[in-house]
Amino acid sequence: MRFRVRPVARLAGRVEVPGDKSVSHRAALLGALAEGITEVHGYLEADDCLRTLAAVQALGCEVTRKGPGHYRIAGAGPGGPQEPGDVIDCGNSGTTARLLTGVLAGQPFVTVLTGDESLRRRPMGRVTEPLARMGATFVGRANGTKLPLAVRGRRPLAALAYASPVASAQVKSAILLAGLGADGPVSVTEPAPSRDHSERMLRLFGARVGTRGLTVTLTPGGLRGTTVQVPGDISSAAFLLVAGAIVPDARVTVARAGVNPTRTGLLDVLAAMGARVDAPPAAGEPGGEPMADLTIATSELHGAAAGGPLIPRLIDEVPVLAVAACRARGVTTIADAGELRVKESDRIAALARELGRMGVRVAERPDGLAIEGPQALRGARVASGGDHRMAMALAVAGLVADGETVVEDTACVATSFPQFVATINALAGVEAIRVEEG
Ligand code: S3P
Repeated sequence: MRFRVRPVARLAGRVEVPGDKSVSHRAALLGALAEGITEVHGYLEADDCLRTLAAVQALGCEVTRKGPGHYRIAGAGPGGPQEPGDVIDCGNSGTTARLLTGVLAGQPFVTVLTGDESLRRRPMGRVTEPLARMGATFVGRANGTKLPLAVRGRRPLAALAYASPVASAQVKSAILLAGLGADGPVSVTEPAPSRDHSERMLRLFGARVGTRGLTVTLTPGGLRGTTVQVPGDISSAAFLLVAGAIVPDARVTVARAGVNPTRTGLLDVLAAMGARVDAPPAAGEPGGEPMADLTIATSELHGAAAGGPLIPRLIDEVPVLAVAACRARGVTTIADAGELRVKESDRIAALARELGRMGVRVAERPDGLAIEGPQALRGARVASGGDHRMAMALAVAGLVADGETVVEDTACVATSFPQFVATINALAGVEAIRVEEG
């Protein structure tokens, strides 16, 4: 599948984006572990999160779809999940693989996890190493650091105080999930704060979780089923917001977007770049996650520097931020973002290569990139490399390029934002992006 993208002069309207990917995964997993029924509203019905629901079913939990994005999960409770009869395929989803590894570490049976070609390349040692210290056993490729991976869990696991070398919510969450069945408190200390959806949702399900500075501590105990309201995914909204900032005549509102402060780094950088972005205080926190309507209008952007603790707050938004940087006057730098090299693709190399095909000079650095703008984007044939966020960022670049842009390999967009093309076209009022099969 490919996108044929043509430049547009105008974007206008108020749209919603589908449910937050991170929050959806957690709702499925906590619902599966809890005692009683969990109802989830606004669940992201995209490939990654459907993998997590399928995994939960493979572990013996009953999942009922009651309507669009509305699921009822009958939790396994104290008896715990059941040994699955087959390998669990996590597809393209790093969050499914890593959080599930945390869940399985505490179950007294064997599970085998695998994933697609991209996921089988991604590092799992960052979760298996601390979980092995808690008493779980892993056998997998590359000395237990790559999928396919067999997990032999243990109940109870040993308590652990872990200093994580990376600011990764997946690592933190895997340890906290394993900690539910440990014989004492588990704590994770991070080098910088990562997204805190697990902490918030664990509390919603009745767990005892405390945060002090960079350390999160969980006291083992059971979870109670509850109702979860998933906010709109700010990482999907990001593509629309950047498009709204750079298309010549635009005003775009994304309604009911999640604005958890651990996720709003892009809004801060866009504001620092001079974007006319309106992010009012959250309208409320149903289910522990703040939501707000975000509005952006065409802006004269200038360069800005992003690094340090800001990076985990916008890590998934760097591909589209790089597109904004092409249109900004002056230098935009992204530093301390070496993690981008182990996402669905090596996003630093991919951005330098693919934006380069569109005529943009990108300075590639080991842990980030620098772009001096404004630079004209030339319509070109580019490729996502199977990475959903690259596909959508390149499509946004195509909206402001000279001539037609063809983005190859775009089926991956279904992993997080299946409505992306329809949403852009609705805002454009024309078929700005045409999907071609084959
Ligand atoms: C996620 C955490 C981030 C992010 C990913 C989702 C999560 O990964 O990039 O898309 O839901 O916990 P890391 O934890 O590896 O930084």
